[in-house]
Amino acid sequence: MYAAFSPANASRTTAQADEQLIQEGRELFLVGCSFCHGQNGEGVRSDNGQLGPSLVGVGAASVDFQVGTGRMPMQQPGQQAAVKKKAYTDEETEALAAYVASLGPGPAIPEESEYTLDGLSEDERREAVVNGGQLFLTNCSACHNFEGSGGAMPQGKVALPLRDSTEKHIYEAMITGPQQMPVFADSVLGPEDKASIIAFLESTKENPDYGGFEMGGLGPVSEGMFAWLVGIGSLVGFAYWIAAHSARSKRQETSA
Ligand code: HEC
Ligand code: HEC
Repeated sequence: MYAAFSPANASRTTAQADEQLIQEGRELFLVGCSFCHGQNGEGVRSDNGQLGPSLVGVGAASVDFQVGTGRMPMQQPGQQAAVKKKAYTDEETEALAAYVASLGPGPAIPEESEYTLDGLSEDERREAVVNGGQLFLTNCSACHNFEGSGGAMPQGKVALPLRDSTEKHIYEAMITGPQQMPVFADSVLGPEDKASIIAFLESTKENPDYGGFEMGGLGPVSEGMFAWLVGIGSLVGFAYWIAAHSARSKRQETSA
């Protein structure tokens, strides 16, 4: 039963990860993470809630995402793990990920071929970007807003803008679902769909920002509205100002 439900690629990491890497990871973990996640990653409950959740079965991908984006180690329990400068080198992150993966099967760190669309023709790539844009609108924009410019979440949390996320971290976010973000299993969003979404997000970065106030890429309706209210509004204001300061209005003032 368990084998049927655990992700197919989980065994790859557990089988391959060499003992020494796991051992190194365990040592780093005891120093930097066990205070909140427990001596064996089982999680720690304090009197006033949880310091850190159990990491059994979260998989290497989750560690690579959390440590790679600087979210972990968290400085203090509370609200939302902030994105900050990475505290560990790539090798150390790999060791930590190998250790946590050894606790229980979970999603593995994706291979580069899974999150890039290399090998597609120019036309196929363009199609994938369009498809990815549609998938993004249906699956992600509710929280991350149009073009992934970010949005507010309940309880003072935020779904961050995705402009600075790397391709690998976007993939990992989808397979591990940090915080209130849902996990997008392959049955919901196949690997090619995930790669298309990533290609779409990358394409929004390539699109030049034409400068000025870009309004989160909301589209022509809001931009038109903005032009009417602020643009025409200020022209009308300016016309009034000219009229009030013209020679004729001065003469009227002095003769009155
Ligand atoms: C100050 C306490 C604290 C420390 C130290 C800490 N964590 Fe966490 N960690 C948390 C909390 C709280 C969460 C859940 C909240 C969140 O996801 O923002 C979490 C979540 C995680 C997750 C996501 C689990 C999931 O369900 O996908 C991973 C992976 C993780 N931590 C790894 C680490 C590693 C590795 C370290 C050490 C380098 C570390 N943490 C240090 C408190 C901590
Ligand atoms: C229910 C709301 C919700 C949906 C739907 C959602 N996300 Fe998220 N996402 C979040 C939240 C909240 C965070 C911040 C988690 C954290 O900081 O620990 C986040 C974080 C991320 C991050 C990490 C950003 C960073 O700066 O490290 C990426 C990448 C991401 N989401 C991509 C996606 C993609 C792609 C989709 C659609 C397939 C999606 N999300 C759908 C709520 C959501």
